[in-house]
Amino acid sequence: MKAIRDKTIWITGASSGIGKALALRLAKNNNFVIVSSRGRDSLLELQKTAPKNIRVLDCDVGDDKAMEEAGDRLASLTDHLDMVFACAGTCEYDDGLKLKLESYRRVFDANFFGVVNTLRQALPLLSHSKQPVFAAVGSLSSVVGFPRAEAYGASKAALGYFLDSVRADTSRVRLHVAHIRPGFIDTPLTKSNDFDMPFMMTPDAAAESIEKGVLRGRHIIDFPRRLSWPLRFLGFFSSLWFGICTPRMTRIRSLRKTKCA
Ligand SMILES: NC(=O)c1ccc[n+]([C@@H]2O[C@H](COP(=O)([O-])OP(=O)(O)OC[C@H]3O[C@@H](n4cnc5c(N)ncnc54)[C@H](OP(=O)(O)O)[C@@H]3O)[C@@H](O)[C@H]2O)c1
Repeated sequence: MKAIRDKTIWITGASSGIGKALALRLAKNNNFVIVSSRGRDSLLELQKTAPKNIRVLDCDVGDDKAMEEAGDRLASLTDHLDMVFACAGTCEYDDGLKLKLESYRRVFDANFFGVVNTLRQALPLLSHSKQPVFAAVGSLSSVVGFPRAEAYGASKAALGYFLDSVRADTSRVRLHVAHIRPGFIDTPLTKSNDFDMPFMMTPDAAAESIEKGVLRGRHIIDFPRRLSWPLRFLGFFSSLWFGICTPRMTRIRSLRKTKCA
């Protein structure tokens, strides 16, 4: 298989799950990989696997001020970026439609504003690459409205629009924008899920699909197909989704029992 080689790449959310698997995979092919997350120690552990090819840039993508400072540190590590993979993200479910604002804000800070902050710091460095790529991890959950995913799914849907808009704005320049939408991946993020997760993939398989998608020049990188195709179909015929599927999935049986926290 063709591989991404000899590039300078920034990956956020690289201390675990999908981002970590991608960092390990890319570092093996002589890419210079800058890895970010909030936890510096796990990034330093990751660096030990390929000390020459991995550099650590710990930062909180949802903290606007800290990201300005991280941008300066990023510029001291490299004078250009060929690719950025914005993988950092979090998930909180809204159980019983409690509409807890602080939960929604946490989710949007990491999943939406985190990507805006990442692009904000990366853009000047991407402009020095011949074929710059900006890829961000959304989720197949944004294709249809899932119960309990009001905050998570909405943050990923907002991300999708943001990426489309960036793509539109850069359609006369070289920036390649990619929206990665995984199904269920076996990572710490999904460990506490107490529902069926069909067609679960490993983080390594997810990293392989992402690399393939970028090499093929895809703007939407959905996987696994066994999940993305039915969801896209149901997104198109939404009366089937809301009429047949979601009544079996929702845990809410009475509006009187919902109580905003
Ligand atoms: N797993 C799935 O089934 C699945 C499906 C669809 C989409 N996704 C998306 O894939 C991405 C990666 O998720 P994952 O499954 O690999 O989860 P994970 O193993 O929990 O990894 C999340 C990563 O993001 C970092 N992170 C979280 N908040 C951050 C913040 N504010 N600033 C900087 N880094 C932050 C975490 O490190 P620190 O905690 O140290 O900061 C960690 O490295 C997320 O965007 C997620 O929404 C996952």
